[in-house]
Amino acid sequence: MSFQIAVMPGDGIGPEVVEAAVRVLLKIGEIYETSFSFKTHLIGGAALKAHGVPLPQETLDAAMQSDAVLLGAVGAPEFDGNPPELKPETALLQLRKELGAFANLRPVFLHPPLVEASALKPEIVEGVDILIVRELTGGLYFGTPRGVEANAATNTMRYSTEEIQRIANVAFRAARKRRKKLHSIDKANVLEVSQLWRKVVRQTASDYPDVELHHMYVDNCAMQLIANPRQFDVIVTENLFGDILSDEAAMLTGSIGMLPSASIGGRAGLYEPVHGSAPDIAGKDIANPLAAIASAAMLLRYSLELDDAAASIDRAIAASLDAGYRTADIYRGQGRLAGTTEMTTQVISRLTRA
Ligand code: IPM
Ligand code: MG
Repeated sequence: MSFQIAVMPGDGIGPEVVEAAVRVLLKIGEIYETSFSFKTHLIGGAALKAHGVPLPQETLDAAMQSDAVLLGAVGAPEFDGNPPELKPETALLQLRKELGAFANLRPVFLHPPLVEASALKPEIVEGVDILIVRELTGGLYFGTPRGVEANAATNTMRYSTEEIQRIANVAFRAARKRRKKLHSIDKANVLEVSQLWRKVVRQTASDYPDVELHHMYVDNCAMQLIANPRQFDVIVTENLFGDILSDEAAMLTGSIGMLPSASIGGRAGLYEPVHGSAPDIAGKDIANPLAAIASAAMLLRYSLELDDAAASIDRAIAASLDAGYRTADIYRGQGRLAGTTEMTTQVISRLTRA
């Protein structure tokens, strides 16, 4: 039995961090006597350069036929002026949509040794452990009408009852496995779509009487994440709100280089670090590989149901941080400064079978 993993390095630091994650998975394969077959495919700016399109058919087909997709990052400044269909980012949105990966899970976990690396005071961030459930295939990113006129432009935030229900169910189920608290984030004081969101989430809640439900406006949530982040367990929200709040929440953990993600609910799961392609540090062996490595752990857990192997990766990440290893983004003058390759080697050396 061999799991088919479609590997899409993409742009900027994408190839480096994906290579790190693949090295970790290869070692996991040895330890757990599991075999992975990795095939690499072009996406984003890399695909634009080679084929003139950001998401070649071959890449999409490979994703659909795989057991899971491991992706680095897309985006390159040289394509900034391109029309939407020729932008690297469009490939990612299309891939998520085609896969039907509507539920994006973004765990925001502060590793205890990184308390000092956070931008906030230790007493505020200590113990932060949040799961952001971002709706990923609807809302403002995909709503129609959309487009550009001579002196105006339009995007539409639209959700159907069914789209809200299914993401709410994912969030309630996740909350049930955690601390049983769910915050649904919206802008129901202004937006009709948020009023529907709130109504549907409230109705869905009746199936989960054991989960404590709170509604919060998105502007307040942005503030509360900084003021008192420990109040949150699971957060569920619309696509763009989730995009913004997850970058904000990343800073609680010390760096966006720490945040992994899983996009599930569709044909194959899609796993990618939350960070972007960071072209300014690409190719220098200084990018933090931990978000990509932790995304590989999520891949094992959610797509392959290899929970023990996933836990082994999470433990090895924690142990490497405990041992003092830090990439530049989380280095605060103490511990051992490590590059991408070195950090990965440290994680691999700590992989053990439970
Ligand atoms: C993310 C990214 C993407 C998004 C971009 C690259 C299209 O910011 O995954 O958070 O907006 O979803
Ligand atoms: Mg984002």
